[in-house]
Amino acid sequence: MLSKEDNELLTRVGPGTPMGDLMRQYWVPALLSEELPAPGCPPVRIRLLGESLVAFRTGTGEVGLLEHACPHRGASLFFGRNEADGLRCVYHGWKFDVAGRCIDMPSEPPESTFKHRVRATAYPCRERNGVVWAYLGPRATPPPLPDLEPNMLPAGTWTVAAVLRECNWLQALEGDIDTAHLGFLHLGAIPVDAATPGTFSEYTLRDRAPRYQVAVTDYGTMYGAYRPAGADTYYWRIAHFLLPFYTMPPVGVLGHKIVVRAWVPMDDEHTMFIMMGPRPTTGSGTSNGSTTTFEGATLGRPPLLPNTTDWYGRWRPVANSTNDYLIDREKQRTRSYTGIDGIHMQDQAITESMGPIVDRSKERLSSSDTMIIKTRQVLLQAVKALRTTGATPLSVDDPSVYRVRAGGVVLPRDADWIEATRELRAAFVEHPGLDLSITGNVPGA
Ligand code: FES
Ligand SMILES: [Fe+2]
Repeated sequence: MLSKEDNELLTRVGPGTPMGDLMRQYWVPALLSEELPAPGCPPVRIRLLGESLVAFRTGTGEVGLLEHACPHRGASLFFGRNEADGLRCVYHGWKFDVAGRCIDMPSEPPESTFKHRVRATAYPCRERNGVVWAYLGPRATPPPLPDLEPNMLPAGTWTVAAVLRECNWLQALEGDIDTAHLGFLHLGAIPVDAATPGTFSEYTLRDRAPRYQVAVTDYGTMYGAYRPAGADTYYWRIAHFLLPFYTMPPVGVLGHKIVVRAWVPMDDEHTMFIMMGPRPTTGSGTSNGSTTTFEGATLGRPPLLPNTTDWYGRWRPVANSTNDYLIDREKQRTRSYTGIDGIHMQDQAITESMGPIVDRSKERLSSSDTMIIKTRQVLLQAVKALRTTGATPLSVDDPSVYRVRAGGVVLPRDADWIEATRELRAAFVEHPGLDLSITGNVPGA
């Protein structure tokens, strides 16, 4: 559990809040490049870290991110005319470039120099592998982008996806580092004999209460959840939390799996989940594909509604709180633990059901919450260090600390899990000999 004060400290992300200040030290994924598909396309409303912004791509292809309220008298730049070199407010015609400079002020006499003294709030943007990154921080020269492997894969081999989640970022993220729920929320209705023998799937279903070890790292935290595999081996699920809001889940084979999940706070009560990964290959036959024979337990992005221009109209699932996530009670009685379709929606329903910001002073944490406890400590420490001494975490300025991978591995019972997995946890390394069929047939293993 957390004190109410610490819960506030961790969950509030607006300008001037301690956690908001910490997140503003880093580049943040603001939107997908595909949301600005062509030069001169319509601007997009973006909520980010509690700020209301407008993203646009100029006629020359540059991406800009401006505060939505025009600095003149507050009209929304969402309605702006997107021109070759900037966005023009339609109220009095003032035009701003991607750096926030006022480059035209046609409502003033031609001799006026006032435009040189007006600036719109503008944030630097960079695009890499389908993600528009933004820097909302205090430095004149932003730090480097993090070396997140799936965001640096060669052209044609990566994919990105986004899904809105209607709850606080930390609640959503904590679901991702809580491997204890796998055997219940997602796989609770699947009996052990449904799994291929001698695979991660079988080990996962045979023992649904694994033990945990947790380590603090340069980038955040790492856990190893272990349970028996063979007579003298353990199946380890190794996963990461990376500052300030990323996870790498333990699904798949360590050394092969390359996925980053970003839980980007739009504001205190809305989060944009952005997944970066390798482009799926079809017909792999493993549990990492998007289809499976197991009722309701599919991986991959849930069906989405068409995007709207609303502040919260982007990447909304068809199943959502207004329709109880399309729960099917008959399926829940007979063949699905939740009656809710798809692993993503099961996580989404359950984390949103906790309310917009869960009251952590009322929790009863158990031994399966060790990773969550340690991750909160690391976050609180980083927030407090920044506040009291101005110190930023190593991960702000050293992008190489993000060069890690997560996944499952079978190790001898007496092995030191951290030492034994050092090479397999390194990103940007080929491991051609790995047996990918060891995951077996159950999604999430
Ligand atoms: S409010 Fe934007 S130009 Fe006047
Ligand atoms: Fe989950």
